[in-house]
Amino acid sequence: MKTMDQKPRSSWPDVSHVPESYVHPLEKRPGKLIFDTCKTIPVVDLEGYYDQTHVVQDVLKATKEFGFFQVINHGVSKKLMDDTMAVFKEFHAMRPEDKASECSKDPNRSCKFYTSSENFSKEEFHYWRDALTHPCHSLEEYMQFWPRKPIRYREVVKEYAIELKKLGEKILNLICEGLGLDTGYFSGGHSGDPVLLVNHYPPCPDPSLTLGLAKHRDPSLITILFQEQNGLQVCKGDEWILVEPVPHAFVINVGYVLQIISNGELKGAEHRAVTNSSVPRTSAAFFIYPSKDDLIEPAKALTNADNPPLYGSMQFKEFQRNYLSYAANAEKVQKFISST
Ligand code: OGA
Ligand code: NI
Repeated sequence: MKTMDQKPRSSWPDVSHVPESYVHPLEKRPGKLIFDTCKTIPVVDLEGYYDQTHVVQDVLKATKEFGFFQVINHGVSKKLMDDTMAVFKEFHAMRPEDKASECSKDPNRSCKFYTSSENFSKEEFHYWRDALTHPCHSLEEYMQFWPRKPIRYREVVKEYAIELKKLGEKILNLICEGLGLDTGYFSGGHSGDPVLLVNHYPPCPDPSLTLGLAKHRDPSLITILFQEQNGLQVCKGDEWILVEPVPHAFVINVGYVLQIISNGELKGAEHRAVTNSSVPRTSAAFFIYPSKDDLIEPAKALTNADNPPLYGSMQFKEFQRNYLSYAANAEKVQKFISST
């Protein structure tokens, strides 16, 4: 039986100091943000030009320079975005026990709730976040495992998942065009299994000591992030750049899979999340993943004798298994993908 002092570890609001297990080694702490306004992440207006070629150019320039950009006029309605963020916030406002029980319907644990990372018991130090994650395709197969509370969760998030899948296709087609690949190259298996991850970073009594999310590159083709508050930072050179939220914009970033398919022309971008002491922050990452059996390798159209493939081919599930076992360690993942 639980006693009063054995509170579940997600009772964040009761935390008045950063417990030792959440204090990170000095070199991994947030440190000073070098804020140079010239280096903010580009915002691309998807409807801003008469001529699509300009959009393609802007997208490609941003992906090459930062691996990150934001999009506005993206076609997803503000109302749907607001409704979705509202149910995500409502979900994370529930008691930790309820959040966990709402995510334990699938015996295969495709839908799950955890604090810090999936490796809580093994990690050296913990991260200041709660996370809810579940697959979004196919809806017929997975929706039955999604949370039933808040009451509108399934209805709203289903709509959101459909719209974000479409947006993903739109952006991938722009990238295709920019890279010189046939339109639709990323359709089907390459982008078949999108997964949603809803992060919740409670206010932290001392944000200088810890992180919400470690420095990492995503194991996706691209990721579409919805954020309303500061917290996301991108690593460029050895500087951290803040990705300032633009109302109702989405943040897009390149993941490892696109790095492999583009034969290194685009690179997975390193990023992390820091906490703040005043308000909880909720962010929703929609990862565009290939299907498990999909073969990922450099696109033939992008390689030749002068430009040989930098990476071998492997099924996405093999990549994913290794990524997880290396706990997103960039050097190890890079070594693995380069040696296949
Ligand atoms: C992620 C991620 C950033 C954020 O979930 O992979 O990078 O701002 N999230 O929450
Ligand atoms: Ni990420």
